[in-house]
Amino acid sequence: MSSSSPANHQPPSRTSSPPPPQLPLHKIPGDYGLPFFGPIKDRFDYFYNQGRDKFFQTRMQKYNSTVFRTNMPPGPFISSNPNVVVLLDAVTFSVLFDTSRVEKRNVLDGTYMPSTSFTGGHRVCAYLDPSEPKHTILKRFFLSSLAARHDKFIPLFRTTLSDLFIAVEDGVSEKGEADFNALNDKMSFAFVVSLFSDQNENISGTKIGDEGPKLVTKWLFCQLAPLMTLGLSMVPNFLEDLLLHTFPMPFSFVKSDYRKLYEVFYTTATAVLDEAERVGIGRAEACHNLVFLAGFNAYGGMKAWFPALIKWVGGAGEELHRQLCDEIRAVVKSEGGVTFSALNKMGLTKSVVYEALRIDPPVPFQYGKAKEDMVVRSHDAAYEIKKGEMIFGYQPFATKDPRVFDNPEEFVGHRFVGEGEKLLKYVYWSNGREIDDPTVENKQCPAKDLVVLLSRVMLVEFFLRYDTFTVEVGTLLLGSSVTIKSLTKASYT
Ligand code: HEM
Repeated sequence: MSSSSPANHQPPSRTSSPPPPQLPLHKIPGDYGLPFFGPIKDRFDYFYNQGRDKFFQTRMQKYNSTVFRTNMPPGPFISSNPNVVVLLDAVTFSVLFDTSRVEKRNVLDGTYMPSTSFTGGHRVCAYLDPSEPKHTILKRFFLSSLAARHDKFIPLFRTTLSDLFIAVEDGVSEKGEADFNALNDKMSFAFVVSLFSDQNENISGTKIGDEGPKLVTKWLFCQLAPLMTLGLSMVPNFLEDLLLHTFPMPFSFVKSDYRKLYEVFYTTATAVLDEAERVGIGRAEACHNLVFLAGFNAYGGMKAWFPALIKWVGGAGEELHRQLCDEIRAVVKSEGGVTFSALNKMGLTKSVVYEALRIDPPVPFQYGKAKEDMVVRSHDAAYEIKKGEMIFGYQPFATKDPRVFDNPEEFVGHRFVGEGEKLLKYVYWSNGREIDDPTVENKQCPAKDLVVLLSRVMLVEFFLRYDTFTVEVGTLLLGSSVTIKSLTKASYT
């Protein structure tokens, strides 16, 4: 097709909206290079020569387009086809949420899928397309299991947080700093196990004791290694590339760890598994799904997300901390405690959580395969994508789209207060718009509201206890490293 013929672009969602304006139809710029060598070159640019953000930034500038073709890691020999069409703006990105137009089968990790040995031989919910009947059964089951535990969310999380804060305070007073990531891993694992356990078992009382986070982290690493770089200066790039990105990690590395995790859930979550059997899911399959949900989706998400939240709030400084203290303490006092209704009344706290999710989405990649020939539109142009092509959205660019957000690179705590709420439709962290709900027909995180709730509770607990705090930040395999350097205890109520 010519690069200037007009196209009637498709609306990003199926809701009724005014007829779309005519946009010029552009050929998607970019190419995949020579077979084998092109993907390897892109992989080296992505991990070593440029780094993730620069990889996308330079190509976006070169092609003067937020939509272009490139290869995504890992490529040879792990993924059979690394060719993707990249989407980097807030408008085109939403096609990835439209499951009538994109297929979400086996695309959770992108252009490759780890062996099902990591999940007991089952394709677990997150790898299923909504058109597969099993997705409906499993997702409905998760949505109802979470709803049934609604009353546990706040008290359970406050209890696990209280242990975390004691440890943070000990670290700061004894060693002058506290490793927030390590304490957050422990807290997140304890929360997830207790949430699904029959009697709120304390994880230390189970067979794996305090080893849980380490076991899950190893298991996660083996599945996600093809997407990671260790950033170790003493290991030559080609060697790391060979070890992490060229062949899949065998499940045998973590077989015994996985067995232990499986047993913890098999023995502590019997009521959840009984319920699964009642709705027609085999007990073993339900338990493998539960381990994945708890270990990959929930623990993996919390491991990346809470340090990011604390990083951004910590870095925002004393003025924002004082405003949060004022709001949180006043509302908790007037509402008589930390309740759903109290949390709902905290406009600034809510906005701060959304702003951190916007600026630093914890799961930055989304993939989907075109189910049909289609046209997607950006702000300025329309692009034709062919059936079967892999579409990839890099979310940190889409949620920092300067055509949607003012000062997109800046953390603006008040961004979503009042009228600002209208922009929530461009916050995509949950694999869907913040104004939409997870259903069996879509791939939006079933814990979307839970994650937002827990994030608010974390800030509330922080600013009930402390007036302000400072952090030192760095990078880790999965997100940011955060060290708490100082805490000022609450001086007023
Ligand atoms: C901060 C924590 C979390 C983050 C950042 C997060 C993020 C996400 C994202 C981005 C997806 C979509 C993945 C994709 O298909 O591209 C997803 C899916 C999913 N999440 Fe979450 N999540 C979190 C916590 C949780 C928790 C606590 C649970 C359950 C207790 C959960 C259960 C799931 C499940 C089952 C799916 C698959 C949904 C489907 O297949 O339709 N997540 N999550």
